Parts: sequence; structure tokens; C-alpha cells
Amino acid sequence: MARRKIVAGNWKMNGSKESIKQLLSELVVHENADVIVASPALYLDYVQALAPKGILVAAQNVSDQDSGAFTGEISVAMLQDLKVSYSLVGHSERRSLYAEDDAFIAAKVAKLLEAKMTPVLCIGETLAEREAGDTFAVCQSQLQAVIDVVGIDAFSDIVIAYEPVWAIGTGKSATSEQAQEVHADIRQFLANESTVVAEKVQILYGGSVKASNSAELFAQPDIDGALVGGASLVATEFNAIIEAA
Ligand code: G3H
Repeated sequence: MARRKIVAGNWKMNGSKESIKQLLSELVVHENADVIVASPALYLDYVQALAPKGILVAAQNVSDQDSGAFTGEISVAMLQDLKVSYSLVGHSERRSLYAEDDAFIAAKVAKLLEAKMTPVLCIGETLAEREAGDTFAVCQSQLQAVIDVVGIDAFSDIVIAYEPVWAIGTGKSATSEQAQEVHADIRQFLANESTVVAEKVQILYGGSVKASNSAELFAQPDIDGALVGGASLVATEFNAIIEAA
């Protein structure tokens, strides 16, 4: 079964009303892939209103709580109110800069799934972990923490983004062989529990994806698209990545 490609842009904490309007007006959607943009929460409604047909909108983060005294947080219900159907969860910047741990991330995934939204679950190893030979173990344990809470079958409704931390924002992408090796291991790890789920789940690669390396990454059998940071802010780059999918 061929899995549909996804090209997702994570704008992180970048942009203004003016720059977002300009960027969205320049994006070109292709039938070959689903295109998602993850905007800062403040602009989600604005992006929904301006996004060309075929571009889906994602939040970059979501609360694990329903509502109440959680200053600065955004709930799943609020995202639903804006018709936002995806949210990144567990991005490495959330894990490292805001101390989000596996249990907290799993709770957010569960909250999104309850609301029939799609989590884009980010996992990946640091450089030290890779150099210690722990890449597979780290990714597996990050996945296992979520499996323990939502179960393996829920992964039919989850998108995984493998993002080696050392490749994020560094300009140094994993090679297509390095990425494929980890994607294949992730799929095999899931297959140990359900071959059906493993075959279905879309696994995106993230970490210095750009126009020049996207086609080679997308040609790998277990790479089902990309989660793009910096290059998603440049229309010509992001369009070329979409085209390569
Ligand atoms: O979410 C996106 C990743 O952090 C990748 O960022 O493409 O700027 O390396 P990057």
C-alpha cells in the first residue's frame, strides 16, 4: 500500500501578519502530497482564513489539559474551534528548552486523539546519543512511552516525525541512508506490535530539509515526507520540496 506523502512546514516562532500573507500567497499546492503549515498559535485563525485550498493548518503545541487556570496554554477544544486538525507534539525544542518529558507528551497525544485530531509526534536522538550508538533505543523508548498510554492501534491516526536533534537548524541533514535506516527501524519496532499499523503510519523526516536534498530523502522507501523548519519560511524552497514529494 502506497503511503501518501506529507510535507509539513514548522514556522516555529517566526513571521508577522504581513510576512505570513506574502508566504501563503506564494505557496503552490500539488496533488502529490498533503501540505501542512504549523503556525504560531496567535496566527492560526489568520492562516486558516488565508491559506490556499489544499493547505492544512497545524498548531505547534497543545495543552494536555481541557481548560482552566493554565496561563498561556492553548487547548485542544480551542484548536477545534478554529478548525485546526493537526498539532505537533514533542518537538525537540519543547523537549529540551521547556523540559517536556515522555509522559507529558503522551498525555498531549491522547488529548488530541480523543478529539479526533492528528498528532504529529516528534522523536529523535541527540548527537551524544547517536555517537553512543543509542539512536534506535532512544527513538523506540520515545515511541513506547506513547504506545503505553494510547495503544499501538492509535498509531494509525498519528503521524511520526523523526528529527535527529543534531540535524535541526544546523544545515547538516542526516544523509538519506541515515534517515532511511532509522525510519525502517521505527517501522519495524511498530510492526512488532502491529504490521497493519506499521504499514500505514506515515513517518516524516525533519532536520535541515531543503529543496536540494528533499528528492533524495523522499525516494527512500520508509520516508513518507518531511517536517521542514527554516526552508518552510522561504516560498521557493518550500514549493520545491512540495514538488519533490
Ligand atoms: O520542525 C522542524 C525541524 O525542527 C527542522 O528544522 O528544517 O530548520 O532544521 P530545520
